[in-house]
Amino acid sequence: MRIACIGAGYVGGPTMAVIADKCPEIEVTVVDSNAERIAAWNNGPLPVYEPGLEAVVARVRGRNLHFSTDVDGAIRDAGMIFISVNTPTKGYGEGAGCAADLRFVEGCARQIAKIATTDKIVVEKSTLPVRTAELILGILTAERRAGVNFQVLSNPEFLAEGTAIANLESPDRVLVGSDKTPEGLAAAEKLIGIYTHWIERDKIFTSNVWSSELAKLTANAFLAQRISSINAISALCESTKANVADVAAAIGADARIGSKFLRASVGFGGSCFRKDILSLAYLCENDGHIEAANYWRSVVEMNEWQKRRFVRRIVRAFSNSMFGKRIALFGFAFKKDTDDTRESAAIAVALQLLEEKAVVAIHDPKVSPEQIRRALREASGAPAEEWESRVICAANPASAVRDAHAIVILTDWGEYSAQVLDYAALLRTMNRPAFLFDGTALLDLAEMRALGFSSFGIGRE
Ligand code: UDX
Ligand code: ADP
Repeated sequence: MRIACIGAGYVGGPTMAVIADKCPEIEVTVVDSNAERIAAWNNGPLPVYEPGLEAVVARVRGRNLHFSTDVDGAIRDAGMIFISVNTPTKGYGEGAGCAADLRFVEGCARQIAKIATTDKIVVEKSTLPVRTAELILGILTAERRAGVNFQVLSNPEFLAEGTAIANLESPDRVLVGSDKTPEGLAAAEKLIGIYTHWIERDKIFTSNVWSSELAKLTANAFLAQRISSINAISALCESTKANVADVAAAIGADARIGSKFLRASVGFGGSCFRKDILSLAYLCENDGHIEAANYWRSVVEMNEWQKRRFVRRIVRAFSNSMFGKRIALFGFAFKKDTDDTRESAAIAVALQLLEEKAVVAIHDPKVSPEQIRRALREASGAPAEEWESRVICAANPASAVRDAHAIVILTDWGEYSAQVLDYAALLRTMNRPAFLFDGTALLDLAEMRALGFSSFGIGRE
């Protein structure tokens, strides 16, 4: 059996590596139009940082896992093709700023239709609006060669970056959506046959295609909503001297609520949450459910507010006077254990501090200076000459902190914990008063105060 995956990103790469690892008799080819990315998968360093990924790739690359730019060849040879391309928020025209941009998915469908000379099972891996399978099937059917048949399955990926390998190796569930026709069910069985190499059958859920597509959007919306809910409470904790971690622990012990995803933070980031909620809200609105759309949008608005609130707290500590002050930012990735910066709260915080005319010295253990600058440039509405000279990318935490007025923790990397970093030594190289703002609940604020920092956290004293 041969399978192909179009899109060698954070989802396609790790997912196919684990499938190849668990199914030695299946030949897996991952293709991407980005030649640089494919070269990195083949020759290293891998284009995405993910704990445990290198070991899996080292085991299977060249054995039954192949990376290539030959998209047409992979389509031709495979019986099953996963679509794992990016689906960013549409930046233009109808639905701009809300709807998912499906041009990459559509491009894949057209290419598959053009190239395929044998029957194919096409699997949606990317998170897509409900009924995208209809669009894909429409293109495949309209443009196919005579006698070629297609089945479209939805098999959304639930992995989180930073824990992708563990999530793939022991998922909470796998979801397979298919047509309920005999051909659709047979295609679903083929896909299920891959997963049963390592996952118990009772963890594999089946449904129609639309439920599967909607389940993925809903899962992300619910997860993000929990964070926005606890972040809303974090504001109240700060004004009432309650402690958000204690509140979260108390409510999380209720089995009906559950303890996970209740960590108050400077705001959620990542490529999925904002995009998928906006896409869900757009779907609601399109179907006339305006209140439902507004409900979900408020989860995103809450997140934007949380970031602004955190920056306001910093600016207030400096009595609104940040001109020329050096602020060390610890962490730029959207969470620890990834080099991904998409929608990272650090981007918004850095840009807002730059608007206040501060100098920001940024360190991240995995994000390169080029990537930091690119992310800021892409997100900034202001001309680069107004702020770029005030961005410093530091090689280590100590050099970011030297002569700084404040440390701001934005990613909960273990490297920034008090067990690893000597905060007393850092303090000695800073301006006074020295401030510390923890956007991640990484540090014990009382301990930091004892060292001499003026410290502030989210939802706690
Ligand atoms: C998410 C979903 O978890 C995953 O199932 C889906 O497939 C893709 O989107 P990901 O974006 O990789 O995964 O990371 P996740 O662990 O969900 O974190 C998202 C953001 O929420 C991060 O910025 C994280 O720091 C933040 N977060 C998470 C909190 O602020 N508080 C929490 O309690 C949990
Ligand atoms: P994700 O986090 O969903 O994996 P990424 O942006 O990391 O998203 O990866 C998506 C990949 O899909 C990119 O490397 C991009 O080059 C690739 N891609 C998009 N459209 C096509 C296409 N039509 N053919 C081949 N590769 C594509």
